[in-house]
Amino acid sequence: MLSYQHAYHAGNPADVHKHVALVLLLERLAAKDKPFTVLDLHAGEGDYDLSQFAPQRTGEYRHGIEAILNAEGPPLALTPYFAAVRRLNGDGALQRYPGSPALARSYLRADDRLILNELHPTAFDNLGRWARKDARIATHRRDSLEALVALVPPTPRRGLVLIDPPYEVKGEYTNVAEKLVEAHGKWREGIYLLWYAILKERRHEPMIAALKNGIDSPMLCDEIMFTLPKRTDGVSGLLGSGLIVINPPWQFDATLTEAGDWLARIFERGRHTSVWFKKD
Ligand SMILES: C[S@@+](CC[C@H](N)C(=O)[O-])C[C@H]1O[C@@H](n2cnc3c(N)ncnc32)[C@H](O)[C@@H]1O
Repeated sequence: MLSYQHAYHAGNPADVHKHVALVLLLERLAAKDKPFTVLDLHAGEGDYDLSQFAPQRTGEYRHGIEAILNAEGPPLALTPYFAAVRRLNGDGALQRYPGSPALARSYLRADDRLILNELHPTAFDNLGRWARKDARIATHRRDSLEALVALVPPTPRRGLVLIDPPYEVKGEYTNVAEKLVEAHGKWREGIYLLWYAILKERRHEPMIAALKNGIDSPMLCDEIMFTLPKRTDGVSGLLGSGLIVINPPWQFDATLTEAGDWLARIFERGRHTSVWFKKD
């Protein structure tokens, strides 16, 4: 079942939280003179035009990217993220919002690689058009969790995997944990950034327990709770956004805490927590 379309949610508080962490990791990868790979398993469409029907229908981006762009006093940790959003908008008014592929591509050097995977046929076609002619980018249309295990370790071997499922299928949390443990067994030194939805059913809790149990690398858990207007389609809305970062770079936690504390002050009824599950 592929009913999820990210355009409805692009730039919302959860997207901002995940993308801020992604950009902070990309900054660290690009700071060293060694090539890296980014494997984006749920790529979506590349970037999003916020004036289109879907983002305007939900207006979720107004509670995320629009709210923080207009807020005062962002910490230094957010500078690279804001720079990426502003670059896409030609330093003018907010019209486009970058998806994870656009953020990753903005950090690629000649020898770095970006592997984009997307299963939805329309999203995949749009992604292909967006990525075309860039020899550093490969696109795949596979099931994400099958690809997770099959495509690691990548070449270059240094790098990052983004796992960003929609969590609309029952059992997705459990499957993610199982495949992530398997992938980590094949590529222990990779950085893994896993986003999860915090819903009232709290299905993320057994997923986190399985990851703690199955993975012995350093692991950071970062969550922001917030309030979004009630959805009109009867689907239970997001209560918050969670990130698991496996093998985070040195002092990444301090930067993410600085960013997350500020974001939570801007998001409606925001609350930020960051805890180590395992630390070297
Ligand atoms: C939350 S969106 C991704 C957003 C994107 N990572 C970003 O940050 O801009 C999730 C994407 O996963 C895709 N998807 C859903 N199930 C999938 C599966 N089993 N395999 C691959 N992609 C899937 C959806 O079509 C959707 O585009």
